[in-house]
Amino acid sequence: MWEAFAGVIKRGSVEEKLLHQIDPQRIPRHTAIIMDGNGRWAQRRGKSRVAGHRAGARAARRAVETCARLGIEVLTLYAFSTENWKRPAEEVQALMQLLKEFIDRELHALKKNNIRLRVIGRLHELDPSVQEKVLQAIHETRDNGRMLLVVALNYSGRAELVDAFRSLYREAVERGWMPDQIDEHAIRRHLYTGDLPDPDLLIRTSGEMRISNFLLWQIAYTELYVTEVLWPDFGPADLFSAILAFQHRERRYGGIPSDLPVAAR
Ligand code: IPE
Ligand code: IPE
Ligand code: MG
Repeated sequence: MWEAFAGVIKRGSVEEKLLHQIDPQRIPRHTAIIMDGNGRWAQRRGKSRVAGHRAGARAARRAVETCARLGIEVLTLYAFSTENWKRPAEEVQALMQLLKEFIDRELHALKKNNIRLRVIGRLHELDPSVQEKVLQAIHETRDNGRMLLVVALNYSGRAELVDAFRSLYREAVERGWMPDQIDEHAIRRHLYTGDLPDPDLLIRTSGEMRISNFLLWQIAYTELYVTEVLWPDFGPADLFSAILAFQHRERRYGGIPSDLPVAAR
């Protein structure tokens, strides 16, 4: 894994020191990020919120690249929530425009780096020009296998559950199921992420201690990491710190500490 960073990370830098503490055998398979704080970043610099989102897009590109080098299998980025429609129309429009520009600029890099794109959320409710670009990028990266980049777009966890229950209901009717035949496995299959492992690590930037309707079902046993760093400032060192924190956690899934002597268990 370290070789993947050769020539990218400076010798003797903070990044390098952090990177070398990471255990390459215990990289979170699926990392999800709530990319928050673009507005505050801009405000602190006397810039427009849109300028903050532009800087946020650059941070997203850095994160994608770094995660791919680390060998993360799935990276899910929360880009636009179903609640974000409440923002001023100009901001929403700018976000959609930035998304299109992001795809125009990054598609080449995604292909070169063997990264596959997927979108979760109600894509069909977005402007046709956005849908078209997104679907084209998904199509052009469909055979890539190094990392899956999942972008949550017009996404919310509750909307996902509504969509899942509707589709599950359809299946149940078709197959003539009884209520008892519905279990966790059946619900999971109908989520947008039905075929993906649950996130191991969820990062939120800019200090807010909330989930904001992200991946509600999937994060049941995800390790949470909140940093005060604002999203546009989030760089490789911050990502490495998050992964190191994750590697120091003990995941119990409701069990007991694994280091208890056998007699005490
Ligand atoms: C996150 O930054 C980007 C999106 C939600 C699209 P914000 O725009 O929420 O930034 P803050 O929270 O206002 O600082
Ligand atoms: C969460 O951030 C959504 C995204 C990062 C896309 P918000 O800024 O929308 O969340 P709240 O409003 O602070 O909960
Ligand atoms: Mg915010």
